[in-house]
Amino acid sequence: MTTRIAVIGAGSGYMPGVIRGLLHRAGDLAGTELRFHDVDAEHLDVMTRLARNMFAARGADFTVSAHTDLRAALDGAQFVFTTFRPGGLRARHLDESIPLKHGVVGQETVGPGGFFMACRSVPVLLEIADVLADVAPDAWIVNYTNPTNVVTDAVERHTDAKIIGLCDQWVGDTETWADLLGLPADGLEIDWIGTNHGTWAERVRLNGEPVDIAPLLAAVEPRGDATPHRDPVRMAELGKALGLLVNSYSKYYFFHDEVVAELREKGTTRAEDIMAMLPRYYAQVAAEADKPDPDPSRERGGGEHGEFAVDVICAIARDEQRRFIVNTRNRGAIASLEPDAIVEVPALVGRQGPVPLVMGELPRQVRGLTQAVHEYERLAADAAVTGDRRTALRALLAHPFVPGLRVAEQILDEGLAAHRADLPQFTKER
Ligand code: G6P
Ligand code: MN
Repeated sequence: MTTRIAVIGAGSGYMPGVIRGLLHRAGDLAGTELRFHDVDAEHLDVMTRLARNMFAARGADFTVSAHTDLRAALDGAQFVFTTFRPGGLRARHLDESIPLKHGVVGQETVGPGGFFMACRSVPVLLEIADVLADVAPDAWIVNYTNPTNVVTDAVERHTDAKIIGLCDQWVGDTETWADLLGLPADGLEIDWIGTNHGTWAERVRLNGEPVDIAPLLAAVEPRGDATPHRDPVRMAELGKALGLLVNSYSKYYFFHDEVVAELREKGTTRAEDIMAMLPRYYAQVAAEADKPDPDPSRERGGGEHGEFAVDVICAIARDEQRRFIVNTRNRGAIASLEPDAIVEVPALVGRQGPVPLVMGELPRQVRGLTQAVHEYERLAADAAVTGDRRTALRALLAHPFVPGLRVAEQILDEGLAAHRADLPQFTKER
């Protein structure tokens, strides 16, 4: 049977990396039919031409069709790769700027910004799950749409669709820690556990042998250049203090007020910075698209992003039982979180999907924080599904960033008003 993969959000700037990811497993996926879908027909067309020419140049046996109709794209799919950003960067700018006005970190996935993103993403995923029930009930949704954990939770608890939530942060974080600890990145395996963008690790193996990280952490010199999503100096400082390896997003929790001051000082949001570079970026990609051997820019996405998602698809399609860090139902993997929590944990991925590996308790120094973030995420999923304002307020009140009722109400009212056009579940007649 031909493998059919629907890519929802195929006009995304991350597509060149996804196409490269597909090329890296072209042999294993030979004969696959790709159905590209986007609501932006122009970007969809650029990425479709680009993919066809990149596949042809490398002799990859893939066919690509372009769709603006969701049902046609999903029909008969075995895999649905979701990688879209509802509301686009314009909405992301609001997510990043509204909380900041009230002294709270403005970020696209964590905190109140992530809450509003969840409210935009979840209804679209529910719609996809609804169509899948008709046209491809056995399909796996392989999801990058953020906040990936909240989206995964909503789909898991409210639909019959199968979903695996992805985030490639752990790949880069593993490399950052290899560098900080003076270990080779090759053969390094870290047991990252927690919730998405809030994972921690105390267990590390090198070529299968346990590594005692305590002396290495004690000797770490905080160093390295900060990028928008990774600050190795702060990761090292915090790692030493907690006695743990920390995710790059931990800075938002443990350096909250410093980050607020920095974001205010910077003056533009990440969304604005990306919007400023995108026209040039898409022009470069469009110019490459029709060349016999296109070499599109690598400025968005990057190797691990596309390769990781394609590797996960291969692991399920070929029953590879490969270990990845993914977002899935806990099922006892982390003793400190409820069994049906969506957690980010090491899992073996094969035909049956992800099976999380038993990890034990969260370290005490981050246990309460992670539990609080989980409770926020669960309430956020419920609010995003129902459009119930009271649940939305409770979600924000549960979040560790939010200092009190006044701020929660202000951010909620301002966010719901600003995003009104993208949040039909909050405006529908009851
Ligand atoms: C990291 C995170 C993703 C997030 C992305 C945004 O990769 O893991 O969840 O979507 O950064 O990157 P950007 O370049 O758009 O700020
Ligand atoms: Mn992520």
